[in-house]
Amino acid sequence: MYLQTFFKFLVSSCGLCVDKFIVYSFLYHTICVVITQVFSANKQSLSQSAQLLQAWDLVSFPTETVYGLFADATNADAVRKIFFAKSRPADNPLIVHFADMEDVSQYAIIENDIQKLLIDRFMPGPFTIVLPKKNNIPDLTTWWLDTVCVRVPDHILARQIIREAWFPLAGPSANISWRPSPSSAQMVLSDMDTKIPLIIDGSRTLYGIESTVVKVEQGHNQHYLVKILRPWFVTKEDIESALPDDIKVSYTDEGVNESPWSRYRHYSPRASVLLFQHKTQKPLQDMLLDMGIDFDKSLSFIATKELLGHYSDELESLHNEYGCITMPLGSVSNLLECSQSLYQLYASCDKLWVEQIVIESFEEKGVGYSLMNRIRKSLS
Ligand code: TXA
Ligand code: MG
Repeated sequence: MYLQTFFKFLVSSCGLCVDKFIVYSFLYHTICVVITQVFSANKQSLSQSAQLLQAWDLVSFPTETVYGLFADATNADAVRKIFFAKSRPADNPLIVHFADMEDVSQYAIIENDIQKLLIDRFMPGPFTIVLPKKNNIPDLTTWWLDTVCVRVPDHILARQIIREAWFPLAGPSANISWRPSPSSAQMVLSDMDTKIPLIIDGSRTLYGIESTVVKVEQGHNQHYLVKILRPWFVTKEDIESALPDDIKVSYTDEGVNESPWSRYRHYSPRASVLLFQHKTQKPLQDMLLDMGIDFDKSLSFIATKELLGHYSDELESLHNEYGCITMPLGSVSNLLECSQSLYQLYASCDKLWVEQIVIESFEEKGVGYSLMNRIRKSLS
């Protein structure tokens, strides 16, 4: 910490006469001190991103879903740095990001018409598809699987950086493993400070939650089956409507160990997280006690503005008596807004050292299904 401050001082003094970026690079490559810079997106910062990526280094920048932590997907040494910076288990493979769909066939194989239909309908966008991989993607990127997750972000800045880098980019969300995915540059900084050299600040991301991941398989009867390995904004209903009626679409995110992703507890703030089922007949304090809430510990109540409105008097007295904090997720009629806030509010709870979080439960259909998938993964 003190070392960081000292080097930041040193760099700002040197920066009067020399390009700061050169000084940072010098410190990083000679004495392994990583000073994390946050730049807004402009011509200079974009070309610095490309330079760093070409030097097998890491850069974080936004996509339409969350901020990613990117490196050259075709280079195992660069990819290794991602696992190291995130403390990510190596058996959790990475998504490979392309600037344009036309580039995908150099690295992966589109095997059938169903994959093609899905790609044409949902890419670019918050949608990722598992395809057989070619040999130019190193094994470390995909944890020795013979498939690779392919994504084309619908984000001008992200696609521009990938284009300038000249190769596809491996990119998980830019958080320490187990922690909420970042939807702002500030969230990236709080997890990645001193671990990576550059964060490009492109303001809050649109969706705030990671892309939908799907895999197309052929059953014994030769019928295609679309498995949703990770649900999100492209919902089961959206996928069904893009395909012929006889194609079955199913969720496999619960229970079945289809995706390496499903093995781990995810999206967890430091606090213990409990799900709140709204029961009108009981006073709020009694319901919280039934759930095992300890009023001697700090507590945050995260809910839609409608539910907060319903309990406004009771929440006010819980605040006055026990310091319970209320955090509005958004409106129940706008689940995108709720999803955008979810990880941001978890991050705020971490900053405030909240010990217990109570979060509203949502009806599990459409986007509500995906939102509940993420909430369930964060439960204690
Ligand atoms: O929105 C997103 O998808 C963000 C942005 C940055 O693009 N990326 C992201 O990456 O969420 P990550 O690594 O946090 O999640 C990707 C998940 C992994 O956890 C992994 O288990 C699964 O996709 N995955 C990757 N390759 C796979 C494969 N070949 N087969 C099945 N699942 C795979
Ligand atoms: Mg992630």
